[in-house]
Amino acid sequence: MAPALLPRLLLLLSATSAAAVTNAQLSENYYESSCPAALLAIRTAVTTAVLLDRRMGASLLRLHFHDCFVQGCDASVLLDDTASFTGEKGAGPNAGSLRGLEVIDRIKMLLELMCPRTVSCADILAVAARDSVVHLGGPSWTVQLGRRDATTASASLASSDLPGPNSNLNHLLTAFSKKGLTTTDMVALSGAHTIGRVQCQNYRNRIYTDTDIDATFAASLRGGCPQAGGGDHSLAPLDASSPDTFDNGYFSGLLYHRGLLHSDQALYDGGSTDDLVRSYATNNDQFGSDFAAAMLKLGNIGLLTGSYGEIRVNCRAVN
Ligand code: HEM
Repeated sequence: MAPALLPRLLLLLSATSAAAVTNAQLSENYYESSCPAALLAIRTAVTTAVLLDRRMGASLLRLHFHDCFVQGCDASVLLDDTASFTGEKGAGPNAGSLRGLEVIDRIKMLLELMCPRTVSCADILAVAARDSVVHLGGPSWTVQLGRRDATTASASLASSDLPGPNSNLNHLLTAFSKKGLTTTDMVALSGAHTIGRVQCQNYRNRIYTDTDIDATFAASLRGGCPQAGGGDHSLAPLDASSPDTFDNGYFSGLLYHRGLLHSDQALYDGGSTDDLVRSYATNNDQFGSDFAAAMLKLGNIGLLTGSYGEIRVNCRAVN
């Protein structure tokens, strides 16, 4: 081979293998013939779980986010520790706060009975997130399917790539742009905090030391979350105006400086995202459509498709 051709061939090969791990092979009809009732089974299980525990919708949505931000949407978040890697569940952003793992287990068990080794855990997470949002009154979107599951997980990537509750705006923008998400995506996705709960240990600093917080709001939270310690796990709603309804109440709260996390209020604190927060606070439809569009992008991060990864039989363990 002529020496000049070699670099071009190598470039072509690396471009081909990069393409194989993108979303080229995802499709909304992916399971149409291999597991036609898969989507119905997931929706039924999610509906049941949320009827039993309304917070579960929030927990399932968060699981998909925590999956996609670490190694991509490959269900790595679900893997237990093994001799060869330390999983993500014990990492700071997940330890003691990830919920919904048993719901995913139940769905997976059912799908293995219906159509063995067919539906990936990563796709279950993506569909369960969408179904949760819809069930709680939020927008819908068509989930693209065909993700495959990782055979490894990374506690250190979970610690480095998931933004923390004390992040400032710059940090949030950087963390999301590292994943190919824009400022609009970041603000819209943060609107997920219209549902769910936070533990005192994650909002203690906010209610005692932040100055850009509504005084009455801060005072109302202090009883359950003492400054000196204790009550670390007591819960407060992320959107006190409508904690279990997926609407734009979260953004209205920010206008009144009632963001529960420092990172929530950072979106409306005199910076570049103030205008967008104001728009979402007054226009629920705009929030809904931007959120749905951003969820599609979130669900496309770092995918394993084709012959990469595997279809796990048990979401907690590599086959
Ligand atoms: C912008 C950066 C973000 C930060 C710093 C952040 C941080 C947090 C923290 C600290 C909690 C509370 C955990 C606990 O106390 O147990 C939480 C809860 C939650 N987060 Fe986020 N989050 C962010 C973005 C997102 C995104 C993009 C989504 C989904 C698309 C999301 C969905 C949720 C939900 C639904 C809950 C409530 C979970 C439940 O009640 O079980 N978050 N987040």
